[in-house]
Amino acid sequence: MTRPRPHNVSAGPAILPVEVLERTAEAIRELDLPGDTSLESRLSILEISHRSAAFQTIHDAAIDLCHEVLEIPRSHKVLFLQGGASTQFAMVPMNLRRADRPACYIETGVWSKKAITESKMLGETKVVASSAATNHDHIPAMPAPETYANASYLHITSNNTIYGTEWDQLPEIGSDVPLVVDLSSNVGSRKMGIERVALGYAGAQKNLGPSGVTVVFVREDLIAREPVGVVPTMLRYSTHAAENSLYNTPNTFGILVLRNVLQWMKGIGGVAGMGAINESKAEKLYALLDASSLYRAHAKVGSRSRMNVTWTLGGSDADGATKRFLAAAEAQGFCGLKGHRSVGGCRASIYNAFPESGIDALCEFMREFERKA
Ligand SMILES: Cc1ncc(COP(=O)(O)O)c(C=O)c1O
Repeated sequence: MTRPRPHNVSAGPAILPVEVLERTAEAIRELDLPGDTSLESRLSILEISHRSAAFQTIHDAAIDLCHEVLEIPRSHKVLFLQGGASTQFAMVPMNLRRADRPACYIETGVWSKKAITESKMLGETKVVASSAATNHDHIPAMPAPETYANASYLHITSNNTIYGTEWDQLPEIGSDVPLVVDLSSNVGSRKMGIERVALGYAGAQKNLGPSGVTVVFVREDLIAREPVGVVPTMLRYSTHAAENSLYNTPNTFGILVLRNVLQWMKGIGGVAGMGAINESKAEKLYALLDASSLYRAHAKVGSRSRMNVTWTLGGSDADGATKRFLAAAEAQGFCGLKGHRSVGGCRASIYNAFPESGIDALCEFMREFERKA
C-alpha cells in the first residue's frame, strides 16, 4: 500500500487488518498452500473449485479456527452460509419454531425488530423486553424466566450496531429454552459467555471478513429439530450441516478471508487478547465523551458497546455543529463517522481491526475540535 490509509470507522463492511489484506491479495494472485502440490494451489482463490482439495484445506482450517479462536463449543456445528444475518432472521423461526410454543425476542433496536418481523410472519411471537421507549439507549433488564419459560427459543442481539449498546455478558437462561443470538457486530471481540448460545449467527463483514459469508453455529440437537412447516432445502440448517456447508457453492473467497482474519486474531491471543485491546480502546473514547460539554454519548453507562460508540453534539446549533464536525473529521482522514439516522450525530465503529493508534488520533481530533468550537 503506497498511500496513507484513512481511519476507517465504518459500521460495515468494515476495516480489516492490513496483513490480512496483503495475504488475501497474494491468494488472489496465487494460492501457494504449504505442502500442496496440486495444480489448484498454483491458481487464484477466485478460480478454484469448492470441491478441490486445496479449497477443502482452507475451509476446514476456517472451521477449526472458529472453534479455537472464537471459542465456539465443539458441541456446535459451524456453518458458512450466504444471505447475510438478515436471512438468519427468517431461518431461525423457520427451523426452530415448535408447535404451540411462542418464539420470544428481546427488542433492542432496528436489527432485532427486523428479526421479530420475520418471526411474526411464521407464527406466535412474543417481545418479552424492549428498550424502544428510550430510543434503545440501553439493554433492558432480563425479564422474569416465566415470560419465556415455554418458548421455542429466546432471541437477543448481542450488540446493537446502530445505537451502540451491548450486552455485557450473554444471559444464562438454563438449558430448557435455547438462547439464539445475533452476534453480527461483536462476534470475537471479547469473552462474553459464548458457551451459553444454542444458535449464534454473524454476518462476517464487521469483525470476521468481507460481506457475503455468514458464520452460523448451531447445537447438534437443534439441527435435528423437525421444522413445524414446510422449509425449502436451502433454508434448512440440516441441509448445510449434513454437507459441511458445501451443499451448494459457498463464498470461497469470503471463507479464505475469514480464515486469514482468524489466524490474525489467534496471533493476538484470540477473544481474550482482543477483549483487552477493545476494552482499552473503548474506555478512551467514552472517557472523552463523558468529560466533554460538547459531545453526549447516546448509550447509557452499563450498556455501552465496545464496538460502536455513538454520540451527538449539543449546543444551540447542534445540526450545524455536527455537519462541521463531520466535514472536519473527513478532512483529517476519518471515514464513515456519520451516525445512523435513527440516532443522528456520530458513530465510531472501532471493530477488532481498528488500531489503538486510530483511537488516539480520533480523541486528539475531537479534543481539538471542541477546544476551537
Ligand atoms: C446486529 C446486526 N444484525 C444484522 C445485520 C444485518 O446484516 P446483513 O446485512 O448481513 O444481513 C446487521 C447489519 O449491520 C447488524 O449490525
